[in-house]
Order: sequence, then C-alpha cells, then structure tokens
Amino acid sequence: MENKITAAIAGVGAYVPDYRLTNKELETMVETNDEWITSRTGIKERRILKEKDAGTSFMAIRAAKTLLEKHDIDPRTIDLLIVATATPDVQAASTAVYTATKIGAINAFAFDLDAACSSFLYGMSVAAKYIESGRYKRVLLIGADKCSSMIDYTDRATCIIFGDGAGAVLFEPNREGLGIQDEYLRGDGNGREYLNVKSGGSSRPFTAETLDNREHYVKQDGRTVFKNAVSMMASAVETILDRNQLTTDHVHWLAAHQANKRIIDATANRVGIPEEKALVNIEKYGNTTSATLPLLLWDFEKVLKKGDKIIFATFGGGFTWGSIYLTWAYG
Ligand code: UT7
Repeated sequence: MENKITAAIAGVGAYVPDYRLTNKELETMVETNDEWITSRTGIKERRILKEKDAGTSFMAIRAAKTLLEKHDIDPRTIDLLIVATATPDVQAASTAVYTATKIGAINAFAFDLDAACSSFLYGMSVAAKYIESGRYKRVLLIGADKCSSMIDYTDRATCIIFGDGAGAVLFEPNREGLGIQDEYLRGDGNGREYLNVKSGGSSRPFTAETLDNREHYVKQDGRTVFKNAVSMMASAVETILDRNQLTTDHVHWLAAHQANKRIIDATANRVGIPEEKALVNIEKYGNTTSATLPLLLWDFEKVLKKGDKIIFATFGGGFTWGSIYLTWAYG
C-alpha cells in the first residue's frame, strides 16, 4: 500500500521593508528608552513599510516571488494561495487573490485568513488539509502584516512592539511521513477586549468621533495578554508533546510567535525546552503578527536539517492560540 500523504514545507521566502525603526528613534517619538525596550521585550529594531499606498500585498508579493525564484517554481503550478493577515490591503477585496494575480498564480484560488497573531499557524493547518486530502499539490501560505498601519506612534505601550514584514512557505505532498504531524488549535472570544482595534470594523465603523478618539489604532492590556500568552502557549505545547510521546529531548526547535522575548523564554522554560532550542529573531523585526513564524523559518533555514522536529506555538488577539508539530523535510 502507498504511504499516506503528509504536508511538508518545501521552500521558504521572505520580504522585510528596508526602513529600520530603531529603539533610538523611538526615544525621540515617545517617552521610552533603549534599555527599557530591550530588557522588557528583546526588540532592538523593527522594519517599517514606507512606500506610498503600499499595503500588505506589497510585501506578500515580494516574499512569494523570493520563494518561487529561489526554487525555480512556475507560479502557474500553485493550486491555492492563502494570505494569513490581520491587515488586509482594503476591506471587501481579498489581499490573497490580488497577490496571486500579481505573482502569476493564474491557476490558483486564493483567500485571506485572519486569526490575529495566530493567522499563520491556523493557515498551516488549512494548507495541510488540502494537501493531505490529495486534492492539491502546491499550497502557498504567506504570513504578512503591515502592523504600522494600525499603530499609534504616540502610544508607547504598543509602538515599541510591532513591525512590518512577510514570509511565505510552500506546502507539498510528502510520502516519507515528513511535514505536519499534529496540531492543537484553540481560541477564547472573551479575550478580544484585551487586544483589538476598536473602530473600523462592522460593529463600530469609523466616524469623525472615532478618529478623534484614536480608535483606529491597536490598543492592548499588555499584562493580561502577556500572562495568557505564556500559559496558553505552554499548555498547547505540552498537549502536543504528550499526545505524540515526545520528551523535550526529542524536540529540535521551538518556533514560537515573536511578541516578546520574555514570553518566548517563559514558555520554553515552562515546558522544559532549553533556551538554545528556541528560535528567536525578535530583536530584528519586533512583532510582525502573521509574519513571525515564516520569518523565523527564513532566518534559520540554514540550520534546519531534514527530520528535525519543530514545535510551533502562537498566541494572539481574539484570543487565538495553539501549537503545531512538524518535521522538517529538507536540508
Ligand atoms: O502578539 C500578541 C500581541 N501582544 C503581546 O503579546 C504583548 C504582550 N505584552 C507585552 O509584551 C508586555 O506587557 C509589554 C511589552 C507591552 C509591556 O511590558 P510590561 O513588562 O508588561 O510592562 P507594564 O505594562 O507592566 O508596565 C511597566 C511600567 C509601567 O510604569 P509604572 O506604572 O510601573 O510606573 C509603564 O507605564 O513600564 C511603563 N512602560 C514603559 N516605560 C518605558 C510601558 N511602556 C513603556 C515604554 N517605555 N515603552
């Protein structure tokens, strides 16, 4: 009998804008300092998309093209393209379908997927199902966010954290059992009051008053988000480890959402994964929401080896969270 189909990552691409917003520059914008930001978050700089009228697709297109060129893949062979994002270009028109058209993926259907900072993780689950079922052979999953479009650069509680970026991964069928092994995804709608953009959605459309009140920017209760992020990511990872009879010795890498270095450290610590196994690049990009996981894969691709066991974990607005266990398929 033929081996069962698993969904493996066959390539990675990325794009980050050139402009670096450093802690030093933030010191000139709000009452903060490099020492506070570094010790409380681990962030040194973030990238900001400055091009006029450029939205999330600007970065998604470039991340996708990087991947396609690197692996010499004809975009017409892509069956499905998903853009995981909390910051679509415009309302009521899919960022993914625009991205697909611009990269020449003319045989693909495409849609956006929004689960805040867990968008990419949930997207991995969706991509895997289409591959595992045998329906499609090439699913391009892009995590991209222009966080700067919803940040209040007078609010020191949020502007120091977020940055812009995009990463893309290609999922293909695998017959060696490599790729996505298991997932545990959850959410709690009661959490949405602690992290959101209050206006601009259907429940509270923009008015002159909402704009005056700066309700079109992200607001968060950082401490509550922090506590929930650690406990939910840690328990999701523990569930995945238990269910798959994995000890932390079996795990090669923890790829956790990059929201705060202290959240990553505390999560790793709680589940007993040593610090050196936790992939970290938050110092360069800050929290890029849907792009953190593919940017980690992009930055660490060279150290990943075929068969490496990677545990992904995210936590985000909503609340949304979860963990995915994947074995790396090349390298
Ligand atoms: O992806 C999911 C999205 N978000 C997150 O995961 C973020 C989760 N939360 C966090 O990362 C942290 O809560 C923050 C980085 C947002 C804040 O760090 P914290 O250690 O929780 O600080 P805090 O909010 O408890 O504030 C401690 C102090 C306060 O001063 P007082 O009241 O102790 O005098 C703040 O006013 O630090 C002050 N503070 C700052 N000081 C300098 C808050 N922000 C700043 C700042 N610079 N940027």
